Amino acid sequence: MRDAHVVVIPGDGIGPEVVSSGVEVLYRTSELYGPGLRLTERMLGGGSIDRFGEPCTDEVFQDALDADTVLLGAVGGPKWDDAQAKFTPEEGVLRLRSGLGLYANVRPVRVYDALVGQSPLRSEIVRGTDLVIVRELTGGLYFGEPKEMRMVGGEPAAVDTLLYRRSEVERIVRHAFGWASGRRRKVLSVDKFNVLISGRFWRDIATEVAGEYPGIEFSTMLADSFAAALIQRPTDWDVVVTENTFGDFLSDEAGVFTGSLGMLPSASLGDGSHALYEPVHGSAPDIVGERIANPIATILSVAMMFRHSFGKPEAASAIELAVEQALNDGFRTRDITEPDAYIVDTESMTEAIIARIEGPKAR
Ligand code: IPM
Ligand code: MN
Repeated sequence: MRDAHVVVIPGDGIGPEVVSSGVEVLYRTSELYGPGLRLTERMLGGGSIDRFGEPCTDEVFQDALDADTVLLGAVGGPKWDDAQAKFTPEEGVLRLRSGLGLYANVRPVRVYDALVGQSPLRSEIVRGTDLVIVRELTGGLYFGEPKEMRMVGGEPAAVDTLLYRRSEVERIVRHAFGWASGRRRKVLSVDKFNVLISGRFWRDIATEVAGEYPGIEFSTMLADSFAAALIQRPTDWDVVVTENTFGDFLSDEAGVFTGSLGMLPSASLGDGSHALYEPVHGSAPDIVGERIANPIATILSVAMMFRHSFGKPEAASAIELAVEQALNDGFRTRDITEPDAYIVDTESMTEAIIARIEGPKAR
């Protein structure tokens, strides 16, 4: 394989801190397993607004389009929270997701045995949790038109639109079934069938698509009851597919009971070869520069990159095992700390993980 071209976007807040960990893991793993790498660093989000007046310039977008894959830290922060501002940092991420056709955001949620005690849920409830949220990423309430301010009855109003085309629902549900076939063969589709027309539409199509996969168990649930069931019985779920906004909420909820939102990776995928890997957490402005950010979500996102963009499942497993090993050996960043833990900073956690990445097994 020729060198893989990765566009690296540190972004705002703790983004640069966790991305530098991700890049170290990228290099180390590529030394052991390939492919060769070519990395290009680019700006996106708040930093790009400050420098270029917009959150994602055409040049950066084109670079992302030309690259094999993108690694992104996080964007946003209080500095850009002005409601009157022309742009938000988040629009930079949305441009990449939609422009690269990345309609499937895959968020694995796994509770490590070593962190069971860190969960706000009781250990007997949370132990063994291993599910994947497949969040639709380029439609729904995030992108539907109209999306605007307008006057209604003589006063200012705002409208967002929850719109899905049939093909958009079909492809994301199929994507979820694809994941389930390599896992415990269960798909749950989450909607707001009882109130939203788009929910009814989603459920009908999901149920129809499910008919194509007789070997996979299919069920549906309302988004509000699932939000409750997710914390009551987290081990019950395998693959959960849902609308963009619901997926956004539910993945933060799931992140919390793994012990820390700093543990959750994600991959945004489409039908082509483009892909974007980013931690689920945000830019955490409160801890910027303290070097205490948990790099694990980004490191696990890099593992997903080896599996899905580089076709190197062994390399991905080696990273995932190294993370588990470092946790078992007691390494903890502040967000996952516990009595008697060995509290380390971002860099030491990264080193601990890198030291545990094993090379290919001799054949
Ligand atoms: C996420 C984030 C993003 C989203 C923001 C940064 C646009 O919260 O990836 O979950 O809302 O999708
Ligand atoms: Mn979110």
